[in-house]
Amino acid sequence: MTAQHAKIHVIHENPAWLPPLAEAFGRAGLPWQELDLSRGTFDLSSPPPEGVFYNRMSASSHTRGHRYAAELTAGVLAWLTRHGRIVVNGPAALDLEISKARQYAALEAGGLVVPRTVMVRDEAEAVLDAARRHFAPGPVILKPNRGGKGLGVRLFPSADALGAYLADAPVEEAPVDGIWLLQDYVRAPRPVITRAEFVGRRFVYAVEVDTTAGFELCPADVCAVGDAFCPAGDAPAVPAAPRFAILPEGIEAPLRQKLEAFLDRAGVDVAGIEFIRDAAGQVLVYDVNTNTNYNAAAEEAAGLAGTERSGPGALAAFLGRQLGEAGRLAA
Ligand SMILES: Nc1ncnc2c1ncn2[C@@H]1O[C@H](COP(=O)(O)OP(=O)(O)O)[C@@H](O)[C@H]1O
Ligand SMILES: [Mg+2]
Repeated sequence: MTAQHAKIHVIHENPAWLPPLAEAFGRAGLPWQELDLSRGTFDLSSPPPEGVFYNRMSASSHTRGHRYAAELTAGVLAWLTRHGRIVVNGPAALDLEISKARQYAALEAGGLVVPRTVMVRDEAEAVLDAARRHFAPGPVILKPNRGGKGLGVRLFPSADALGAYLADAPVEEAPVDGIWLLQDYVRAPRPVITRAEFVGRRFVYAVEVDTTAGFELCPADVCAVGDAFCPAGDAPAVPAAPRFAILPEGIEAPLRQKLEAFLDRAGVDVAGIEFIRDAAGQVLVYDVNTNTNYNAAAEEAAGLAGTERSGPGALAAFLGRQLGEAGRLAA
């Protein structure tokens, strides 16, 4: 295959998340194809196709029946990088995507503050013991180390409430990598979190997300929230305002620079980074999403839809530049 036939290959396992990207590629006139790693056979003794590979394997792939898609992706990314292909969100990004423990280590190394977290092997007695020892009298958050979409993230008022949950927890809710995280609950003065979007390791925009209805905060339209867990314990009130709103003022420059430096250092090209400001105004970063989805309604309302300042638009422009670079390297 020659460089003229080079394409953007989108590595994924969930076709439902592709249409916004397909539209942006179409608008930019970029050749692309999907590489669905929910399955696949790879001849590792042959070179991969020409082009640029954009990895958007998701930490939540196991929740769609693709238990080993992330493991298959790790093998494919190793093969691609060994052959010198340009990989956007390469092995280092996948490594962070599937482990919050590794995210937190990388964030702290970059001078960012994360909520106090205790990591425990999935064993009910050990989890309860750690909750009593480190988080008494409560509250405490329980979340899987390999997360996604907020699934399995729960707030408990006390260690005893956590114990009662664990005693009856359905097997399918066990963390897929065998690791639970216990975490300080960060009380925000307003019920919102912020998600800052980065493409090519540079800030694109920040979106504020109303958390009144619960913890399942995937911005993709296809992840419309069902019976999400309500942190308040009562029936979730439906917020009158849109759940996702782009902040016209963005985020403060020192925070933006720190987050961009973190991405540079961690080798992550595309990410949505989530944080909460506590009552004292401190920023606590708790989630790095390398397979970020963008909220179309929020982009529309902010006048960004269809432009290079939208998430998919910025991605298409960035990947188009990478494809040009791949062509020059192959020439
Ligand atoms: N330490 C915390 N304090 C307060 N709220 C939290 C905390 N951790 C998570 N949440 C809430 O739960 C949501 C999902 O948690 P997150 O860590 O982002 O998991 P996931 O990787 O599944 O998205 C967050 O967006 C936030 O609303
Ligand atoms: Mg999250």
